[in-house]
Amino acid sequence: MRLLFLGDVVGRSGRDALTAKLPGLRASLRADLVVVNGENASHGFGLAPDMARAFLAAGADVITLGNHAWDRKEIIPFLETEPRVIRPANFPPGTPGRGAVVVDVPGNRRALVVNVMGRLFMDALDDPFRAVQAELQRHRLGQTIHAAVIDVHAEATSEKYAFGHSFDGLASLVIGTHTHTPTADHQILAGGTAYQSDAGMCGDYDSVIGMQKGGAALRFWRKMPGEKLAPAEGEATLCGLFVETDDATGLALGVAPVRLGGRLSQAMPGV
Ligand SMILES: [Fe+2]
Ligand SMILES: [Fe+2]
Repeated sequence: MRLLFLGDVVGRSGRDALTAKLPGLRASLRADLVVVNGENASHGFGLAPDMARAFLAAGADVITLGNHAWDRKEIIPFLETEPRVIRPANFPPGTPGRGAVVVDVPGNRRALVVNVMGRLFMDALDDPFRAVQAELQRHRLGQTIHAAVIDVHAEATSEKYAFGHSFDGLASLVIGTHTHTPTADHQILAGGTAYQSDAGMCGDYDSVIGMQKGGAALRFWRKMPGEKLAPAEGEATLCGLFVETDDATGLALGVAPVRLGGRLSQAMPGV
């Protein structure tokens, strides 16, 4: 299976780049499954239903979220009707929405996508490791599903590596989101799971992790309440990872970074 994962879409710049470029990117990579993290799409905070629809129409199969899942309240009823948009699986029981979804992939194949949030330097949620373990016990890679993608929305690389190694051999891809900065450690782990500590964002990198640099920097210089944050408006770089997997095992055969448009050095998998 040919998987494309794109990190946190930030603001209008990220949305515009995604909707403009994803159809062509999906076609040129001949991607079978596209997963996009959308938690910052709405002015940096949350995901409005119309934006989710636009991402799905542009070629996303599944949209994941994170700590900004509830910033746009309209998403709550939307999650009940749209299973392809998922929020972290380790929110407490009774939380609206779902933390995982199985989608059909062309060629009579099925893929599991799980979203989970880390706990280091983040909100105290339920155990994310046991949440992912439960999903991977329900759906077995290479048996009931052909691919499994885990979006680990977390701050600390240590926690993300612990995730990668814990589920090495049980998932096709364990990929981090939330820091908005792509890491250069993309690799296939010893057991066959593709891994990258952070996919990076789909946003303007002339910024502080997607937000206009003046106001965002000021928040570090002085501790006044109410410093306004707004997304940077320059051209976005679409950032993520392309993974090719073996349908028989669900494990990774190849992994390559994607950086398209905007300021960052460009990277495109050879196809
Ligand atoms: Fe984010
Ligand atoms: Fe986040």
